[in-house]
Amino acid sequence: MHKQKFSFEIINYDSIDELTGSDFNLMQSSIASRQKAYAPYSNFLVGAAVLLENGEVVLGNNQENASYPAGICAERVAITHAGAIHPDVKIKAVAISVSSKNHSVNTPAAPCGICRQSLMEYEQKQDAPIRILMMGETGRVIECSSVSDILPLAFNSSFLG
Ligand code: THU
Repeated sequence: MHKQKFSFEIINYDSIDELTGSDFNLMQSSIASRQKAYAPYSNFLVGAAVLLENGEVVLGNNQENASYPAGICAERVAITHAGAIHPDVKIKAVAISVSSKNHSVNTPAAPCGICRQSLMEYEQKQDAPIRILMMGETGRVIECSSVSDILPLAFNSSFLG
């Protein structure tokens, strides 16, 4: 028997203004996309902007449904959108921003479990890490250097044989 420890680092930025130019622009794209979210049930708006290796940015936002479980998160809309239109172009980073119509969100929100699994599929497909940037409506930004950091012991295609 032996124990195993998993650890990972995040980078904290005090505000969006501390980001590099291209990350700043990516987060601004995520914020712009968030304004178009369809979230009449939760009033919680999420925007996601995917940066491709060719410099293109592909957007997504949450799309809710009267049958609640049929709704789709912003991250999955964006990453599947990228996979659909550019299946062979690597994904460098995803910027995620959240806000609520009911209260102020001043801290970053990390992707839900299903979105982590979806993002992980693309990270494994391209065999290169995808950076994740996250922020609330205001306040600090956090960055993870790969999806695998936030989804340890992930299920993947290797189990399928
Ligand atoms: N949501 C996302 O878009 N991404 C996440 O990672 C977590 C939650 C959406 C789903 C739903 O439309 C709303 O936020 C409230 O859960």
